[in-house]
Amino acid sequence: MSIALFNGEFLPLEEVRISPLDRGFLFGDSVYEVIPSYAGRFFLLDAHLDRLARSLAAIRLPNPFGREQWERHLGDLLRHNGAEPTDGSTPPDLGLYLQVTRGVAPRDHAFPDVSEPTVLGMVSPIRPLGPAVREAGVSAVTRADERWGRCDIKATTLLANVLARQEAVESDAVEALLLRNGRLTEGAASNAFVVRDGTLVTPPLDSGMLAGVTRDFVLGLARGEGVPVEERGVTAAELRAADEVWLSSSTRELLPVTRIDGEPVGTGRPGPLWTRLHAAYQAAKPGAVRRQSEAMNHE
Ligand code: PDD
Repeated sequence: MSIALFNGEFLPLEEVRISPLDRGFLFGDSVYEVIPSYAGRFFLLDAHLDRLARSLAAIRLPNPFGREQWERHLGDLLRHNGAEPTDGSTPPDLGLYLQVTRGVAPRDHAFPDVSEPTVLGMVSPIRPLGPAVREAGVSAVTRADERWGRCDIKATTLLANVLARQEAVESDAVEALLLRNGRLTEGAASNAFVVRDGTLVTPPLDSGMLAGVTRDFVLGLARGEGVPVEERGVTAAELRAADEVWLSSSTRELLPVTRIDGEPVGTGRPGPLWTRLHAAYQAAKPGAVRRQSEAMNHE
């Protein structure tokens, strides 16, 4: 059974009760994070907690916990969900979802004078990319980016993202790539990259999108591998003419997109640069050595 963190306490997720007057429920007046953990250890935790602090500051909500308290609570949440197995088995890879709302108050758009933030943490499994995706990649569709102007805040107010992702799923695709004024911003729940003639290109942070923690990590990996990197605007035409297109997020890691709006990207197969960077990403995850030796033992 999955254990949740709810206002400083640990209890089964099913037993969490949130008030209908919670401003997260009524207004989407809340921010969130999704933090990956591998084999019982967080990956890029500092960057996620930094971004949470930035999101909270941007919506003028005091951070309910200091850094050490967050680390303790989140570590405890992982342990409650099997991060330290007693039988010596490898702990599961878990994505930790964390949400902070402005709390419970009589319904009024303006902030209440006093409110206690609601803090919810819960986990779900992260699954490695299956062989089908590694072989064939995934499909995406393009859609108009109809979101608000503060997509740099990781807010739970995600209706435009929800509708875009739903349209993607209804077109047998896994993601909607969003275009604003003829330029790529990001995916409905991911950042996007294109590769052209060996150069990795991704839209810059000021182009109306989320500063993805995975995006930043992948850019660092690419630079470390000696790959030329450009952070600049990407037109719809460049997206269609790309040799490779990738998506990045904390739960999906690095995904190769091989069809956009039904047309093949490049050769229509995951490209060589994706293969390299995906391998580098896997090697950087906590528990990589243990995973590799387990895989060899199974061969
Ligand atoms: N989403 N852009 C958007 C709009 C996102 O929702 C996400 C992640 C990203 C990638 O950010 P990161 O690399 O820090 O996960 C970019 C999470 C995973 C979600 O909503 O479930």
